Amino acid sequence: MTERVPIAVLVSGTGTNLQALLDTVHGREAQVVAVASSVADVPALARAEQRGVATAVFARASYPDRGARDAALAGWLLERGARLVVLAGYMELLGESFLSRFPGAVINVHPSLLPAFPGLRAVEQALEYGVKVFGVTVHFVDAGVDSGAIILQRAVELPDAREPGEVLAALRPLEHALLPAAVALFAAGALGVDPGNLRRVAIRSGEG
Ligand code: GRF
Repeated sequence: MTERVPIAVLVSGTGTNLQALLDTVHGREAQVVAVASSVADVPALARAEQRGVATAVFARASYPDRGARDAALAGWLLERGARLVVLAGYMELLGESFLSRFPGAVINVHPSLLPAFPGLRAVEQALEYGVKVFGVTVHFVDAGVDSGAIILQRAVELPDAREPGEVLAALRPLEHALLPAAVALFAAGALGVDPGNLRRVAIRSGEG
């Protein structure tokens, strides 16, 4: 039987991935117990409020440094009972002091096939490189930039793509499928480590 795991979602903007979580796993495999934004007044916060989910803003400018911001953020998420932290368009880096509060329980969605094109402007980087296959990665977060162990990936062939907008439009549905799927796998206790390769996430099937 799958446990309804309490999750927090970190956002910075539009929040379509948050919406996908609210529309799929929320109230089923998971319960979104907190949504925190690095930016005030973004649509993602309104999406959370609409579903009655607690929200808060942790702007970097409100704290003396990133460590103080991370400590306040982690404290609030733990107070809300979060056991998994999902970065869904969160535009800030999280340091080791935050990650150590949620060991093995912070995941991110990134619009490229990692390890290609980490960091900002991933789709623009891929277009500039001239790739013909684009994709989405959901991965565990470590202290590096988009460098944690990969949970799920999906590719799409777009050999003629030239504009970031058309690539992002093709990637959105993949993100909105993969991120909830990863949360459901986490909730089911189905994510483990391959003993033969500690970088490889093993997915156990047939739980229960
Ligand atoms: C997504 O493309 C995600 O991969 C990236 O930021 C974007 C967030 O979009 N990390 P949204 O705010 O969920 O609509």
